[in-house]
Amino acid sequence: MKHLRLSILGFGVVGQGLAELLETKHNMLCQRYDVDVSLVSVANSRSGFIYCEDGLQIPLLLELARTRQPLTAHPQIRHWADPLVGLRETRGDMLAEATGTNLRDAEPGISYIRAALQQGMHVITANKGPLALAGQELLALAHEHQVQLRFESTVMAGTPVISTAVEGLAGATITSIRGILNGTTNYILSAMAQGRDYAEVLADAQAQGYAEADPTADVEGYDAVAKVLILAAQLFGQTLKPDQVQRQGISSVTQADVQRAHSEGKRIKLIASLLQTAETGQLVQASVAPLALPLSDPLSQIDGVINAITLHTDTLGDVTISGSGAGRLQTGQGLLADLLAIAQTF
Ligand SMILES: NC(=O)c1ccc[n+]([C@@H]2O[C@H](COP(=O)([O-])OP(=O)(O)OC[C@H]3O[C@@H](n4cnc5c(N)ncnc54)[C@H](OP(=O)(O)O)[C@@H]3O)[C@@H](O)[C@H]2O)c1
Repeated sequence: MKHLRLSILGFGVVGQGLAELLETKHNMLCQRYDVDVSLVSVANSRSGFIYCEDGLQIPLLLELARTRQPLTAHPQIRHWADPLVGLRETRGDMLAEATGTNLRDAEPGISYIRAALQQGMHVITANKGPLALAGQELLALAHEHQVQLRFESTVMAGTPVISTAVEGLAGATITSIRGILNGTTNYILSAMAQGRDYAEVLADAQAQGYAEADPTADVEGYDAVAKVLILAAQLFGQTLKPDQVQRQGISSVTQADVQRAHSEGKRIKLIASLLQTAETGQLVQASVAPLALPLSDPLSQIDGVINAITLHTDTLGDVTISGSGAGRLQTGQGLLADLLAIAQTF
């Protein structure tokens, strides 16, 4: 049995989702994958970093988080106010990084990921910022230290896009991708297709927790741009900066636009696109924009908070994957799949 000492930095929706899966699936992971995962450290911004060599009690951690008590109430722990110091002094086998996405400088996640890789820890992350802004640097750092960095959950949560493209489609050439990569905007556009106005639907989405109080990152397309940057680097080997992706959000889409599309037999969707030339392999298009799609396009049929992506390949033609793009267990699932993929290699 392999024993894996895991650290989770960022213990919000996603960090807790992963912890819950590790608890409920512990026996299955031992039996089917021959891996015994021990959660040795956890950090959030309020409590700092806690560590227990024998493994933290996950049900207790989840209860402390649910009742907003400090994680330091866990018995028999060592504590560091600064997670970076705790991470450096305790050295697990793997870091699951799940702090909030920051598309300006990717902190604090990028510093945690760098520190873990430099000390020989494998890293799995759901955080888009570090991969979008410094993906190639971090992958090179992982290579240099002979460890792995995986980030399935950064695009479409646990719905397997990156592993499908890289591993499932090994040997195929992907020449373009088009995707609905943001659930909030798809929820809004789907409701507008039912005749409702943008402002009313946005307020409803905020009330239901699908949209943030400040919805800018979603509705203006920045979240989808981050995912385009990650896919450009991983699928096409091209490092782009955010301003190299043409971006238009959905805040200017009106009910009249939606009705006009409807009368032409089309549906408006916020589409993230990457297109490369067959001849040179250079990217010729990287964009996020609302587009009117014919009903024959599978992406036109994707409604609500569901995400979907179509990969155009030389050997299979179009491959379309759809599924959940957010959520506690849905995103935890992507981290779990990454954890298991790495655990199978040592
Ligand atoms: N939620 C989803 O459905 C989803 C889907 C795909 C990807 N993601 C990505 O996954 C990541 C986590 O999302 P989430 O929904 O779990 O966010 P969240 O609920 O806001 O949790 C973020 C966690 O990070 C902690 N944190 C903040 N600053 C920190 C620091 N300096 N050091 C250590 N911990 C710190 C927070 O501490 P406190 O608890 O003390 O505030 C919180 O526990 C984000 O990057 C997000 O983009 C989320």
